[in-house]
Amino acid sequence: MKNTKDVPRPTTRYFRGMLLWLFVSLAHAEPAPAPTLTVYKDAQCGCCSKWVDHLAAHGIVAQAVDLDAAALAEVKRAHGVGPQYQSCHTAVTADGLVFEGHVPAPTLARFLAEHPKDGRGLAVPGMPPGSPGMEVGDRFVPYQVWQLEADGARVYEDVRERATQYAPRARP
Ligand code: CU
Ligand code: CU
Repeated sequence: MKNTKDVPRPTTRYFRGMLLWLFVSLAHAEPAPAPTLTVYKDAQCGCCSKWVDHLAAHGIVAQAVDLDAAALAEVKRAHGVGPQYQSCHTAVTADGLVFEGHVPAPTLARFLAEHPKDGRGLAVPGMPPGSPGMEVGDRFVPYQVWQLEADGARVYEDVRERATQYAPRARP
């Protein structure tokens, strides 16, 4: 006959093991991933797709949605991206932050981490040669990343060197 005194022990041990596993899992949990971006773009836009790939390479999940020119213009208008800040594509987070154009992924991640009080998003106007998704050989033209605000914009980052576009930024 089985010794009933021993029956609860494996069960207790099992639950202890589960608790330990849970504790270790939580202790080692990665920081919450950046929110998923929706990238509105033209179906034919090659540099837009390359920018989405650039985000993916830096661990930022982005879903591309193709729109015609009128619908794309409406997305920019609805998110307050003025004509002087516009580029090819417009990325939007679930909570309404906007990222216009070829913003480097580490800059975007820094902005999401800092979440500046006055910032509605970032913009790289035009399409600077050598910016992420716009790489052609070693060509690089310095550019600025603008922080879009309710009333205008300010420079968020001055990108002077090609390599800094791919380097992680200091987090607050
Ligand atoms: Cu582009
Ligand atoms: Cu684009």
